[in-house]
Amino acid sequence: MQLFDVYPLFDIAIEKGLGCKVWDNKGQEYLDFYGGHAVISVGHCHPHYVDAMTKQLNKLGFYSNSVINPLQQKLAERLGKVCGYEDYQLFLINSGAEANENALKLASFYNGRTRILSAEKAFHGRTSLAVEATANPKIIAPINANGHVTYLPLNEIEAWKKEIEKGDVCACIIECIQGVGGIRLATAEFMQELSALCEKHNTILICDEIQCGYGRSGRFFAHQHLGIKPDLITVAKGIANGFPMSGLLISPKFKPVYGQLGTTFGGNHLACAGALAVLDIIENENLIENAEKVGEYLMEQLKAANLPHVVDVRGRGLMIGIELDTPYKEVRNRLIHEQHCFTGCSGTNTLRLLPPLCLTMAEADDFIARLKAVL
Ligand SMILES: Cc1ncc(COP(=O)(O)O)c(C=O)c1O
Repeated sequence: MQLFDVYPLFDIAIEKGLGCKVWDNKGQEYLDFYGGHAVISVGHCHPHYVDAMTKQLNKLGFYSNSVINPLQQKLAERLGKVCGYEDYQLFLINSGAEANENALKLASFYNGRTRILSAEKAFHGRTSLAVEATANPKIIAPINANGHVTYLPLNEIEAWKKEIEKGDVCACIIECIQGVGGIRLATAEFMQELSALCEKHNTILICDEIQCGYGRSGRFFAHQHLGIKPDLITVAKGIANGFPMSGLLISPKFKPVYGQLGTTFGGNHLACAGALAVLDIIENENLIENAEKVGEYLMEQLKAANLPHVVDVRGRGLMIGIELDTPYKEVRNRLIHEQHCFTGCSGTNTLRLLPPLCLTMAEADDFIARLKAVL
């Protein structure tokens, strides 16, 4: 059997990792400013994470959601404390798209409505409603184009107000820092007005924190820079440092109903052990403060370096976009093949930096030197 060829691949096989470094099967070392697409939060193969996962796997990898799972209860308690949402409820699933599907479903159960507002350039996943809420017609199959979603410009509140005031909007779903969309930041003013409008018209506000959350922005959640409290928050990627897991944080105004939401694999023992180890490391090593400090330094240095072809540097914490006056493709390829450094990208001209949250100042300097050499 052949693999279904959906990804344009680099001809590189990564076989081991440590911290912010990875190595290919020929022994070549790479600096990882991509984090396997923002997934590696606490660094590759952190010994505490490896130990916790190994111990759990030797005890029990999986049992069903029909019995009590104390690890889920412990995770809900710990996560609530660390992120500042102790009064919220947690539903655990397996991927970002699945978290958004459940958020949108819960919103619709809550107010009985079917219209969604989403931002232009947004990315919310590749399934059903999550892909419909993703403003990219190329990935919305005809079966997913069901007319639920209106796309509106980020930060232009009048457009959102006009729709919400119609009184039929089920939910607004927003990334407070757009990832795939090119590191575009929602403003505090926009989010505060949006939040007030949602509250007034019984519309649910969903923050998709799948890429920008879990410490990456220098706060636990990117929306926490903006002075709002969404009704629903979705998380994935960094939650278990690469073990597939996602979560939906649910405000107290939602009351659970048996059977409305459910999952076979979600919140399994191994995933919870991984997520608990991630929280241990985030706390013990102050990784959120580190993301803020090193991210700020990296952005300052990138701006101060006055690199040719760089027209804008924007972001928060360790979620940084470097916009070029030329397509990123050649720059990104040369960073990988000549400088042995992985980065992400968005659109046609933007390099997207998503390194692990344990990035050091020295690694930030190292990256700038490599980028300078290429540019
Ligand atoms: C903001 C955002 N939402 C949702 C998703 C979908 O997550 P997954 O690929 O785990 O389904 C992604 C993935 O890149 C994302 O960046």
